[in-house]
Amino acid sequence: MKFLVTGGAGFIGSAFVRLLLGAGPAMAGPSRSPRPSVVINLDKLTYAGNLENLAPVAEDARYRFVHGDICDARLVNELVSDARPDVIVNFAAESHVDRSILSPAPVFETNLRGTFTLLEAARLHGVPRFLQVSTDEVYGSIETSYEADETCPLRPSSPYSASKAGSDLLALSYFVTYRLPVMVTRASNNYGPYQFPEKLIPLMISNAIEDQPLPIYGDGMQVRDWLYVDDHCRAILAVIEAGREGEIYNIGGSCALPNIDVVKRILDAVGKPHSLMQTVKDRPGHDRRYALSSEKLMRETGWKSEKPFAEGLPATIEWYRGNAAWIAHVKSGEYQTYYQRNYANRAV
Ligand code: NAD
Ligand code: DAU
Repeated sequence: MKFLVTGGAGFIGSAFVRLLLGAGPAMAGPSRSPRPSVVINLDKLTYAGNLENLAPVAEDARYRFVHGDICDARLVNELVSDARPDVIVNFAAESHVDRSILSPAPVFETNLRGTFTLLEAARLHGVPRFLQVSTDEVYGSIETSYEADETCPLRPSSPYSASKAGSDLLALSYFVTYRLPVMVTRASNNYGPYQFPEKLIPLMISNAIEDQPLPIYGDGMQVRDWLYVDDHCRAILAVIEAGREGEIYNIGGSCALPNIDVVKRILDAVGKPHSLMQTVKDRPGHDRRYALSSEKLMRETGWKSEKPFAEGLPATIEWYRGNAAWIAHVKSGEYQTYYQRNYANRAV
């Protein structure tokens, strides 16, 4: 199979490429082993894209990196026309809610126009599978004890989640209108190695290691469902192989926890005091609770999550402890400007 992966230099996309090429964890359980002949990674290398994440596969003869923008219709068309991929997996996105609140424009450009550009190329060249990687945030805050299934209404709260909801609908419309074989996956909060330290878990680990304050938005009682990144990637493979065209599949971690509990576990594991936590002004429009049912995915593909949080969190902390140079690199330059912009005026 030939894969065209977009955003493969980011956190989840790079885990997916490593898994495809056998440089990820060994696959257990009902997952089928992919046998890719070619894996092309199209990535713009924004602040979140990092080729160091792909060092384990860089020399693999089946792997090819293309530096470019998914909004560049000419480039995307040429690439799809020349490579004739069997599947496009679209990870490329502006993926951070706080950045989307500070600067919404790039989110709409990449997440909507970029998805449209890829869909058009897939339609024109008859690509046999298109998987749109999406998020549980499109359902908005799930305030009761309910778990969102794929039929739940879309109630996105942030520019990020609205752009993802829009791109899901656009992708699904290509199935209905053009019979393009599209599938959409909606995953909960991912964590694991190589995650950019703007997101909760890597930010808290890296600040704890450096004895910096750990900024808690509001009361810290917001609930997220944590999914280990390799479990997410295996679920995407399962959907590519056994999912139905035109369908949506939720991917949850079955590990719903309040943020404050997650942060306390990190401090305990790193051996730092809880007094490093600092309450700061809440995120505008902050969703209180995400909760996802993955029943459809499990029933139709046999997938289940394999890494419990009690194993995945310590493994992730160990990875960050052992990769100080990676952290130092990604936290240099632009990161400092972003950090100031997001956190400087948040004292309560
Ligand atoms: P990330 O921010 O770590 O990586 C995004 C990648 O996309 C980067 O390599 C970046 O360079 C690339 N990119 C950005 N704009 C591009 C463009 N215009 N053209 C080409 N490449 C571009 O993101 P992530 O956390 O790995 O998320 C990947 C996907 O999974 C996103 O679509 C996101 O919405 C979705 N998702 C993420 C999570 C999560 O918890 N992180 C959960 C569910 C779904
Ligand atoms: O649910 C899936 C989504 O998870 C993905 O679609 C997004 O790409 C990904 O960024 C993530 O979104 P969240 O907004 O849930 O993740 P984030 O790591 O930014 O925040 C997780 C929770 O932690 C959220 O309730 C906000 C809170 N938080 C976050 C940061 C960065 C803090 O309290 N302090 C912080 O400094």
